Amino acid sequence: IFLVGIVCHMLKCYSDAAYDTMEHSMDFNKALILGIESSCDDTAASVLEISSKGSEIKSSIVHNQFNLHKEYGGVVPEIAARAHAELIDVVVEKALKSAKVVMSDISAIGVTAGPGLIGGVLSGLMFAKGLSVSTNKPLIGVNHLAGHALTPRLTNKIDFPYLVLLVSGGHCQFLIVHSYKKYERLGGTIDDAPGEAFDKAARLLGLQQPGGPAIEEAAIKGNVNRFNFPRPLLDREDCNFSFSGLKTALMRKRNELTEKQGGLFEKDVCDLSASFQQAMHDVIIEKSIRAIDLYSKSTKENQTFAIAGGVAANKKIRHSLKKVCETKKIDFLAPPLELCTDNAAIIAYAAAERFFHGDYDDTTISARPRWPLDNQKPAILGSGKKGSKA
Ligand code: KG4
Ligand code: ZN
Repeated sequence: IFLVGIVCHMLKCYSDAAYDTMEHSMDFNKALILGIESSCDDTAASVLEISSKGSEIKSSIVHNQFNLHKEYGGVVPEIAARAHAELIDVVVEKALKSAKVVMSDISAIGVTAGPGLIGGVLSGLMFAKGLSVSTNKPLIGVNHLAGHALTPRLTNKIDFPYLVLLVSGGHCQFLIVHSYKKYERLGGTIDDAPGEAFDKAARLLGLQQPGGPAIEEAAIKGNVNRFNFPRPLLDREDCNFSFSGLKTALMRKRNELTEKQGGLFEKDVCDLSASFQQAMHDVIIEKSIRAIDLYSKSTKENQTFAIAGGVAANKKIRHSLKKVCETKKIDFLAPPLELCTDNAAIIAYAAAERFFHGDYDDTTISARPRWPLDNQKPAILGSGKKGSKA
């Protein structure tokens, strides 16, 4: 018993000493954060340098699994998880190499711990835990949605509180970002995410995936007024969305035309795309106006409305949101597209915000398929092709 006691004491002294060394080796004015992302169909790693002057993305490697899933019409969780597990070490090594750093230069490891497809999240998180233990670097489990929501601070150093709209293939919500750990959700989708709706619409019209850019292109030559698609939930005062009925309406029109004419002409595809995009646009713009009005009630100065997510690439939606902000006299911010879509630089940044507050996790952290940012409100239902949208 005495011997066991001595050994335990020695181990504790060793780990305390190791922890002290770890703490003291951190230069709190400047840090290098390794970010790891694997919650959906992108295996990504990034090295981010952050200091009081701002942030610099030293490297950002994103390996997309699009080809592995394309024949299934959605992301297959088991295939995604295996592909992440196979590639994660390679992608992390690439990120370190391209940033010209080694693990001993890294101050902390930030990794997506949810929400998302659980197998993928586990692949990244288990890898990061192993790396943290073997290199004695602090581990920070990041909420993927926080990564998106904090992107405007990575790119533009804006102050809290700001309003952000996340619109992608897997996410759709309005958030007031009060601090790096306090988020207020004003609304979100109760079924499909908007990118998912664009993708399904493109599939119905025989257009390529991802559907958003394909619909946008076909819509250029189309007539927005030929079909009057529904504008779901506009009759409700809140900031929630529903997109699945819109997709069903498109399917009905397509079937009607196909039955009548024996198929679709190019003009039909363009008109259907234009009318569908117009309906998506109208709902997103109107709900954004409501969210901005709510945000403006509580925030009077330095107001900013930011967008993130793949759908933020849509020129029509982007242009109208910018116009709305001009009218409302609030700043509009659209980060560059490569930071709007899934990547690990935004995960590294979200980890950096916690790192500077000494807010770390340990290896007991669990992977979470659902993880609402605003835990004061009930989680939104609907799980979509890319996982939950909590
Ligand atoms: O953020 P993202 O790269 O991935 C996740 O969903 O996490 O977003 C991809 C989604 C796809 O559903 C794609 O169709 C949509 O964003 N998207 C667009 C456009 N570009 C990409 N939707 C509408 N218009 C676009 N130009
Ligand atoms: Zn995402």
